Amino acid sequence: MTLSTTRRASAPQILDRCRELVRPAMVEAVGRLHPWHAEAAAFSLGWRGTDGEPGPGSQGKGVRQALAVLGARAAGGDAAEAVPGAVAVELIHTFSLIHDDIMDGDETRRRRPALWKAYGTGPAVLAGDALFALAVSTLAEAPGPGGPAAVRHLARALGDLVRGQAQDLLFESRPWSGPGAVLPHEYRSMATHKTGSLLGCAAALGAELAGAPEAVVEALELAGRHVGVAFQAVDDLLGIWGDPQVTGKPVHSDLRRLKKTYPVLAALSAGHPAARRLDALLSSAVPLDDLAAQRAADLIEEAGGRAAAVAEAHEHLAAARLCLDRVPLAEDAREELLTLVPYLVDRTG
Ligand code: IPE
Ligand code: MG
Ligand code: MG
Repeated sequence: MTLSTTRRASAPQILDRCRELVRPAMVEAVGRLHPWHAEAAAFSLGWRGTDGEPGPGSQGKGVRQALAVLGARAAGGDAAEAVPGAVAVELIHTFSLIHDDIMDGDETRRRRPALWKAYGTGPAVLAGDALFALAVSTLAEAPGPGGPAAVRHLARALGDLVRGQAQDLLFESRPWSGPGAVLPHEYRSMATHKTGSLLGCAAALGAELAGAPEAVVEALELAGRHVGVAFQAVDDLLGIWGDPQVTGKPVHSDLRRLKKTYPVLAALSAGHPAARRLDALLSSAVPLDDLAAQRAADLIEEAGGRAAAVAEAHEHLAAARLCLDRVPLAEDAREELLTLVPYLVDRTG
């Protein structure tokens, strides 16, 4: 007797497979843009360099397109049914990062200059707008009865994403402590909107395009939102302790901009002696130089902010799992979702 064992795909294999499936439609969509925007899009998507710096770059993880594909398969549909949704969410993600780097003043993304540094702020804003429009029109043209609901879903997610960015920016001018300090529930609301909305929408769109029942769409949406909060807590953590060579993004930029990230908020509320020193350092009117930012990072860690961010991410990971357990899903796709989601939380870049 022979035991046949089917080897489970690893998270990078799942991401690669989904990227390959979606890529032709993505290339076709970007090809419909004005050439100026198509060039900027190809740079942002890691397909090419600038004229001065040819050669492809990092294409990003492609998490959102993978969630769309797995959402369709989890709902018993065909992976191909998810493709217009996958293209749409990946384009929205790209647009949101282009604009985010301008808002955050961040000069590097995926180990290369941010689009606004490479092409200028005006062209980058416009390229982002072009990708936004392209995402909506791509989804609006999706065949099948699920299309209109999917477009409504994406529109809601976009509203939430923009709301989350507004919360994030407004938090920058709030104090670290005392009246007006950002509370944990406000952070969670911001992260759910800013990051969870698109991740939830990605998984739900795939299911919607595959004609899934409402309960399945809702469960995937909620799971994706929890993944988003977990993802953001880890993103915050990597912004302080990540290796810029791996993350491709600047380190300590959030601290310098007084971003109310989870590790800092958790550290400040810890009641640890280091929290008081951290508060004094962050609340001083002097902008943080490299040394002060490093000192802040050490105090955050000492007060338990790093461990708290990991714990927060794992709590939301568990909540996402519960959402996926609540509804009947195709078993192979559920397994792949359960492989992918922890990988996003345990990542280093
Ligand atoms: C980006 O949030 C979220 C959106 C673009 C909607 P962050 O500003 O926290 O993400 P990174 O660290 O620049 O990637
Ligand atoms: Mg940013
Ligand atoms: Mg930001």
